[in-house]
This record gives sequence, structure tokens and C-alpha cells, in this order.
Amino acid sequence: MVQVLPVDRRAPEASVVAEAVRVLRAGGLVALPTETVYGLGARALDPAAVARIFAAKGRPTHHPLIAHVTGEAQARSLAASWPERASRLARAFWPGPLTLVVERAPHVPAAVAGGGDSIAVRAPSHPVALAVIAALGEPVAAPSANRYQGLSPTTAGHVVKQLGDAVDLVLDAGECDAGIESTVVDVRGERARVLRPGALDLAELRRVLPEVQARVERVEGERPRVSPGMEARHYAPRARLLLADTRDEAERIAYGLASGGARVGLVTHEARQTSVEHELVLVRTLPHDPHQYARQMYRTLHDLDDAGVDAVVVQGVPNDEAWWAVADRLRRGATK
Ligand code: TXA
Ligand code: MG
Repeated sequence: MVQVLPVDRRAPEASVVAEAVRVLRAGGLVALPTETVYGLGARALDPAAVARIFAAKGRPTHHPLIAHVTGEAQARSLAASWPERASRLARAFWPGPLTLVVERAPHVPAAVAGGGDSIAVRAPSHPVALAVIAALGEPVAAPSANRYQGLSPTTAGHVVKQLGDAVDLVLDAGECDAGIESTVVDVRGERARVLRPGALDLAELRRVLPEVQARVERVEGERPRVSPGMEARHYAPRARLLLADTRDEAERIAYGLASGGARVGLVTHEARQTSVEHELVLVRTLPHDPHQYARQMYRTLHDLDDAGVDAVVVQGVPNDEAWWAVADRLRRGATK
């Protein structure tokens, strides 16, 4: 049985932090709360420990991991070069939900970077994650603590459900604040570029880096430039996820499936009561606000999966930059 230790999210107990450090030093896997989602941590500089992360997730080894650090100084120790704009971003947003992709220093094992010559670094703001990294005294590699392509975990229970005994220790600090992964920005090259929209808003990012390149709209027929590991399907529930353009369309699809005998989850985001009433349709209404929605999105999909639905029909979210990260996850979750 995997060991789950409750931990105080504001003032992590020294004994719990010490136990996490002991497991990490022994080459083990520790699932940690961050302010975005739970991460599956291992010593970033230990290729054998990193290999265990890939095995536990069932993730292809060419998908790079994020090295979690205490701050800019530790991040720089992993980078072959550190552009001035990386410092600007780190000063503005760290610790916090921003991941920077920089050139990898030669001493950093290629395995953690999926074999590539770059490395992603992030200083999380969650006191538990920071305390563990600080006590370990080295960076912690941590992807989201879910099976490959599955739903990201926002509670310790979600981690246990998906990874179970593949993890040595889970630190349980309750629900994550943001509920959606960090924003990933490549700061190499001529112009910084968003590789994955996330918990840090584009508007915030532009305040510090007005020239950052971000693609909100996908140009038809053009392949977007994305991170390795940003394949179309990702972040998916077990049930089939169907994305509808409008609430009316979502209701129509949900009702149609239920009439055929399927158990259906219907996820909307408008205050108005849904008109669908069917014993086979479970309705979940999320707040019409991108941050509040993001915070509840994965939990809602986990809950519907746990309820055994065959399909989840989601009302599309506004085509607006503020909703970019949510729209991105829903689109990938809906890809077969
Ligand atoms: O909020 C988060 O970022 C969470 C928490 C645990 O920190 N972590 C997370 O890790 O979402 P993961 O492995 O599930 O997603 C990492 C993302 C992937 O899209 C990956 O392709 C990208 O970051 N990435 C990592 N290293 C990269 C690199 N060297 N170059 C380009 N993209 C990279
Ligand atoms: Mg992930």
C-alpha cells in the first residue's frame, strides 16, 4: 500500500518533509502538492529515479520533465545559458505557476529532459513543495502525477487512484489552488514563446514580456509549434469527452445519449438552470470565470469518471484569451 501522509499546507511539519526527503534520497517517488496540480517527484539529477517517473506514468521517455527548484539561483545551476528575460520573468512570477524552458547544462542528465538539449524549470509557490525541494537541497523533477494522457490530479486521492503502488509516498495537503498546470514559456532564441497555456494568464505574462509570442487561434492546416509531450490527446477522462459549441448543443447531445441508455455527465458554465432532466444525466455547473472554472475542472471530470459515466459532454468555453488554458485542456481531453 502506498503511504499517504497528511501535511499542513501552510506550515508543513518538519517530520513529514524529512520523510519525503528520505524517500527521495533513496531514489523513490514522492507525490507532492503544488499550487497548480499534484506532481510526481524524484531527484532530477538521478537518472535512475527519473526513469522510475516515466515507468510509473507509462509516459514515453522522450517527453521532457519540469525540474522544480527553490528559485532563480537553483534554476540557473541547471541552465547552460540564462537569458536576461528569464530573470525578468523569474523575478515577476516565481515562486509561481510559470515554467521556463532554457538550454540544459551539460551536467544535467539528458533523461530528465527527454533526451533534448533544453530543460524546463519552475519554482512552485506551494509551501509543501518548496519545503521539500529546499530540504532536499536539489531540484525535483515532477510531471503531473497521473497516468500518461490521463486527467491531472488536484487531490491526493486522484494520485492514489491513478498511480497507486507505483508511488512510494503521497503528501496530502488537500486541494490545489489553481487546478490547472503551469504556463510553459520557451525563453530561448529571438523571441520568447508560450508552449503551453496555463495557470499564469497571458495578460500577466505580457505585462512583463510584451513581445512574447502566443498562439490563441490555431491557423487551419498549420501545425502548431508545441512542446514535446503536447500531442493532441492529453488530459483526458476515462469516459469519452465530447465538446459542444453551445450549451443548447451540449444539452441536446447529452439528452440524446441518455435516451439511448448511456450514463452521461453534462458540464456547463452558465448560472441558468439546465433544462435537461434525465435520470441518466449528471449535470455539473461550473462558474463562468476562467480561474474558478479551471480550479474545479479536473475535479469535476474525476468525479464524473468515478460516477461511472460513459460520456462527458462539455459546453464549450468562450473563445477569449482568458479562457485559453481551459479551452486547450478541454480540446485535448476531447481528442480521440
Ligand atoms: O503545473 C505544472 O507544470 C505541473 C506541476 C507538477 O508542476 N507539472 C506538469 O508537468 O504539468 P508535465 O510533465 O505533466 O507537463 C510538462 C509540460 C509538458 O507539456 C512538456 O512537454 C513541457 O512541459 N516541457 C517540459 N520540458 C520541456 C522542454 N525541455 N522543452 C519544451 N517543453 C517542455
Ligand atoms: Mg501532465
